[in-house]
Formats: sequence, C-alpha cells, structure tokens
Amino acid sequence: MVKVVGIAGSLRADSYSQMALKVAAQRVQALGAEVEILDLRQMELPFCDGRDEYPDFPDVKRLQDAFQKADGLILATPEYHGSVSGVLKNALDLMSFDQLSGKVAGLISVLGGQSNSNALNDLRIIMRWVHGWVIPEQVAIGQAWQAFGSDGKLLDDKLSQRFDQFAQSLVDNTRKLRGVN
Ligand SMILES: Cc1cc2nc3c(=O)[nH]c(=O)nc-3n(C[C@H](O)[C@H](O)[C@H](O)COP(=O)(O)O)c2cc1C
Repeated sequence: MVKVVGIAGSLRADSYSQMALKVAAQRVQALGAEVEILDLRQMELPFCDGRDEYPDFPDVKRLQDAFQKADGLILATPEYHGSVSGVLKNALDLMSFDQLSGKVAGLISVLGGQSNSNALNDLRIIMRWVHGWVIPEQVAIGQAWQAFGSDGKLLDDKLSQRFDQFAQSLVDNTRKLRGVN
C-alpha cells in the first residue's frame, strides 16, 4: 500500500495550510493510500543547526522516521514574503537524503493575497535538491480566508476538483515511481 506523510508549515491555530493538508490527505486516503499527518503545531522541533542528531528533541526522530517510511509526501506551505514559510523549510532542513530522496511529493500553497506559484516554485527547487520527484499537479489557494467553510470544507467546486486531480496524480505517480500498490 502507498504510504504518504503530510506536513504543513504553519503553526497558526486556525491555519488554512493545515486545513488544505487535511483536504488533500482525505482525497489521497480515498484512493487507497495510507496517510499520516504530522501536525507541526504539536511537535517540538529545534532550529536546524547542521547536527546529525538532536537527542533533546525526540520529535526530530519522529519526523525523520515518518518521512523515511513514506513513499509519497504532501507538503503544504503558507506563502510568507513570496516564498516557503520558515517552519516548513526548517522541518525539511532537519531531514536529509535518507528521508527525502526518491520520494514523490505533491505541493500546496496557501496565500492571503492572489494565487501565484512563488512558494510552490521555491519548494520545487528544494525538493529537486534532495532528489525528490515533484508531481506537476499543484494547488495554490489564493485569498485563503474565503476558501473554506466553517467545517473546513472547500467552498469552490473548481478548487475542489483541483484537489482531486492532485490526489490522483500523487497516488498514481507514487505507485509508478516507488513500485508499490
Ligand atoms: C510573515 C508573513 C508573510 C506573508 N507573506 C505573504 C505573501 O508574500 N503573499 C501572500 O499572499 N500572503 C502572505 N501572507 C499571508 C499568509 O499567506 C496568509 O495569512 C496565510 O493564510 C497564512 O497561512 P496559514 O493560514 O496556514 O497560517 C503572509 C503572512 C505572514 C505572517
């Protein structure tokens, strides 16, 4: 079975990136994959300082182990100053080729302003650098404050369809590239 792990790079209580990650995870699960969401708001992660191990922070190992076991990744980021949030970048910096190489990744960004691809393009470069395979389908949610209902569901049908295509591509391509069902 395809194993997917997802993280979102916002620590905000009512984060739309976390909501978007949840929507994507549900769609991917519906296609028969096993999905684990690691909520970075509930984890204690230090800033990466280049060490191999962080014995005082067991959540680093938890993060690394979950990514190492996964075939596919869902990475959701708020757009912060035209790029990936520091929270997501730091979580990725705490990992290395062992956890990230060869993994198939789907990328989502969430913005307060108009939808664009800035953070997604930067995230694509980061994933290329660690030899991940990023699927071409991606989702950018502009003006995220009006994208979700109070139940966390997407309000726009077209955006919802985009999540379906994103999930289908992530599961199909993970199966192909990782040789798993
Ligand atoms: C430090 C910071 C920088 C931001 N930069 C941008 C930006 O460059 N473009 C944009 O559209 N929104 C920007 N925003 C707005 C956030 O993308 C928006 O509030 C988003 O919903 C935050 O994600 P979250 O809901 O997951 O916390 C910024 C917000 C913060 C706190």
